[in-house]
Amino acid sequence: MRNKITVVGGGNVGAACAAWLAERELGDVVLVDIPQTGTMPMGKALDLLQTGPIYGFNTRITGATDYGPTANSDVVVITAGFPRKPGMSREDLVGKNQDIITDVMSRVTATSPNAIVIVVTNPLDTMVYLAHKLSGWPRTRVFGQAGQLDLARMTAFIAQELDVSVSNVQASVMGGHGDEMVPLVRYTTVAGIPIGDLLPADRVATIVERTRKGGGEIVNLLGTSAYYAPGAAAARMVEAILKDQKLILPCSVVLDGEYGLKDLAFGVPVKLGRSGVERIFEVTLDESEKVMLQKSVDLIRGSMSALKL
Ligand SMILES: NC(=O)c1ccc[n+]([C@@H]2O[C@H](COP(=O)([O-])OP(=O)(O)OC[C@H]3O[C@@H](n4cnc5c(N)ncnc54)[C@H](O)[C@@H]3O)[C@@H](O)[C@H]2O)c1
Repeated sequence: MRNKITVVGGGNVGAACAAWLAERELGDVVLVDIPQTGTMPMGKALDLLQTGPIYGFNTRITGATDYGPTANSDVVVITAGFPRKPGMSREDLVGKNQDIITDVMSRVTATSPNAIVIVVTNPLDTMVYLAHKLSGWPRTRVFGQAGQLDLARMTAFIAQELDVSVSNVQASVMGGHGDEMVPLVRYTTVAGIPIGDLLPADRVATIVERTRKGGGEIVNLLGTSAYYAPGAAAARMVEAILKDQKLILPCSVVLDGEYGLKDLAFGVPVKLGRSGVERIFEVTLDESEKVMLQKSVDLIRGSMSALKL
């Protein structure tokens, strides 16, 4: 039996995610969007299917505007929702995207009751909290993608700065997906060497700042939010789950006392495997990291206060 992966939202991030999933042959892919998009999801699915003979994959890809073909998905990636435009913060999206997540979760829980759900829609941590609450499912099956992207950004900037392979860089981030995310410089190494031994403090600070504002940098260049790296980041999480890789990644998950936090979704290092989030790791933070963490928490709580619950 092949796995079934549904990608909800056939826009920029959804299509990038579906392309990555298809190429890796992780399972058959259903790309679903709203009826108002007409035949767009079918068109994108057909186009992607026809990349199969070129890349050499045999994934079946279907487009849909109803959830029938998504039934009993193993994993559902939710990319449905409005992206940022220049000048907007992720938090500005709460109202519009709450309605979308509410609609999507009612359909997903009805059609794929055993799925693992990965939320990508912004503001990420707030939407994860909402999706988890609406599902009534364990937090291990409803969580979000952000840390993998933030990590990739920090890794890319460090590799570029040092002119070394991205494979040598072991960056570390946690916290919310916002400009107050927490890059963990103390836990960042290159080929096992602490980053502080390789770069002066001001260069590290510049990389940290660029990572935090990494989403905004692309919004300003593109006029909309990033999609290749976010799509790939979500797909990488699907791979870790379906291949039961026990991969440790920062993911946004609803906390229940970890890091002294409760009742919010927050980016923390977790182990991803076939059951979803299989373990949450609590790393030791120093005083300055705790201050950064608190700022990130405050930003998320502010965004959550705009939810109509
Ligand atoms: N977590 C992250 O790291 C990250 C990174 C980038 C973007 N994002 C977020 O991902 C979301 C999608 O971004 P995008 O660039 O793909 O936007 P987009 O506008 O290109 O695509 C969004 C798609 O969602 C669809 N949609 C709207 N309501 C829907 C519903 N009820 N059911 C199903 N589909 C629905 C739209 O028709 C559209 O095709 C945004 O909220 C964006 O902010 C998150």
